[in-house]
Amino acid sequence: MRVLSIKKILELGPVIPVIVIDEVENSLALVDALLEGGIKVIEVTLRTKVALLVMEKISRCRPEIILGAGTILNSEQARRAKDVGAKFGVSPGTSEDIIIGCKKVNLPLLPGAATVSEMISLSKKGFSEVKFFPAVAAGGIEFVKSLISPMPFLKICPTGGITAVTAPKWLALSNVPSVGGSWIASKDDISRQDFSGILIRAKEATALSGFEQVLRSQT
Ligand code: 3PG
Repeated sequence: MRVLSIKKILELGPVIPVIVIDEVENSLALVDALLEGGIKVIEVTLRTKVALLVMEKISRCRPEIILGAGTILNSEQARRAKDVGAKFGVSPGTSEDIIIGCKKVNLPLLPGAATVSEMISLSKKGFSEVKFFPAVAAGGIEFVKSLISPMPFLKICPTGGITAVTAPKWLALSNVPSVGGSWIASKDDISRQDFSGILIRAKEATALSGFEQVLRSQT
């Protein structure tokens, strides 16, 4: 099976919906709305009891979506996520255990970092993309903008506190290929089965593609 690089995955769309889901039965309707809205990549967080069941169902029934496993905190979770069909892993922070666990099962990792020192140490370990989390609380847009000059080799996927209104501003930064966020399909939206609302927000997020190029040329 072909393994996509994190670089490639982050280039597949401007926004990666971060999913926290409590009901397995809502998985496919959710993914269908996202796919219809042009979303190609999602991150299902390992924060609910049914997360692995949801991932298994999505990877079996909707293999066309690039499924990531989020909130990976240890190597065991990396192994389980790979077993149920995750194509990549995302961690809020990073430990050796997480890095080794993902390598062992050949699960590409988007490792979490919140400081410059963490980013330097990850890039020394061979990572050229990191998740900046929690993006707003840990420094916001100005922080990420400040990284462009000293670390031009590093691409950042900010997540945590980003909204439909602020996403274009993040995407205007040349070191931000995509952002992550739960605003497209929140836990409540999914529980309420608001799939038409999710579709609208997915379309809006997809439409940010290209728009960020225009913004970038102005900064
Ligand atoms: C994450 O897991 O990356 C964040 O919880 C998503 O943050 P948000 O809910 O603020 O978008």
